[in-house]
Amino acid sequence: MALAVLSNVVKRYDQKLPVDHVNLTIEEGEIFGLLGPNGAGKSTTISMICGLLKIDGGEIQIDGLSVEKYPLEIKKRIGLVPQDLALYETMSAEDNVSFFGKLYGLRGKLLKDRVKEALEFTGLSDRAKEKPSTFSGGMKRRLNIACAIMHRPKLIIMDEPTVGIDPQSRNHILESVKALNKMGSSIIYTSHYMEEVAALCDRVAIMDKGHIIACGTEGELRARVAQEEKIVVKASNVTPELLNELRRHPRVNRVETAEGVVELYLPSSQTELQDILFIFSKHEGVIASLHIEEPDLETLFLSLTGRTLRD
Ligand SMILES: Nc1ncnc2c1ncn2[C@@H]1O[C@H](COP(=O)(O)OP(=O)(O)OP(=O)(O)O)[C@@H](O)[C@H]1O
Ligand SMILES: [Mg+2]
Repeated sequence: MALAVLSNVVKRYDQKLPVDHVNLTIEEGEIFGLLGPNGAGKSTTISMICGLLKIDGGEIQIDGLSVEKYPLEIKKRIGLVPQDLALYETMSAEDNVSFFGKLYGLRGKLLKDRVKEALEFTGLSDRAKEKPSTFSGGMKRRLNIACAIMHRPKLIIMDEPTVGIDPQSRNHILESVKALNKMGSSIIYTSHYMEEVAALCDRVAIMDKGHIIACGTEGELRARVAQEEKIVVKASNVTPELLNELRRHPRVNRVETAEGVVELYLPSSQTELQDILFIFSKHEGVIASLHIEEPDLETLFLSLTGRTLRD
């Protein structure tokens, strides 16, 4: 069942459309990745999903409820871990979590239990009495996660939660995303690290300049770039004549060379290895290694936009 449905969603600032007619469906139970470079419109989209930012066109429904018409119902169902930390530096870690719990209407023993649970889950129990001003960046991020999940929301949205933090906290966060998902929450996870999104998410939408330019499982997205395969050959004695003959091969789209490496781009499933090996040996090129590289999401982004994700 669809948990979140975005239909033709628009955000407008003067003449700019940072979110330009976005259509997305997030299914119940999935980890959904929103991948895109700086300024793609990820955070703006998320703010509208949470009801923090007015929609200038289209509609968003969570659990069948319009975000505009039922803002309070929506807030109960969503836990947001914002891109910029939102913590009270002068309050202890547990008071921070408790503060968010009270906003959600929790009181008494239930509130206390949930604070304890959230701090345990994020690995911060032993720092519960300390102020976030004494925490590392990664610990602050984990505390922000504790605040966002303590009311057990159906949908947890994390906006680039692993940017600029230590590897230990990063792993902790990635594991906690999986655990929260297993416990029944759906997740929207934004990032501009394609490796992270590919490893974590069931489905991925690629966003650029306010548009969703591709959406699907990693396999489906890979299939879109699978028209081209790259053969990477490490070799010595690569002469201009050898390169010219490779370039003249009818199946070879293009050849690129760098220090000791020759990269050949061919239409997929037409990797004519025999021919290529023959050309190398004919020109006495010495091959040290050879492998075929599968296209990844970075390649897809490049082929759709002509730019890299991290430009
Ligand atoms: N309040 C605002 N007024 C005008 N323009 C804005 C405002 N907020 C965001 N924008 C613009 O909207 C576009 C999308 O911004 P957004 O923060 O959603 O991108 P993002 O994908 O989250 O990027 P990042 O990876 O850097 O976080 C950007 O061009 C940004 O400058
Ligand atoms: Mg952002």
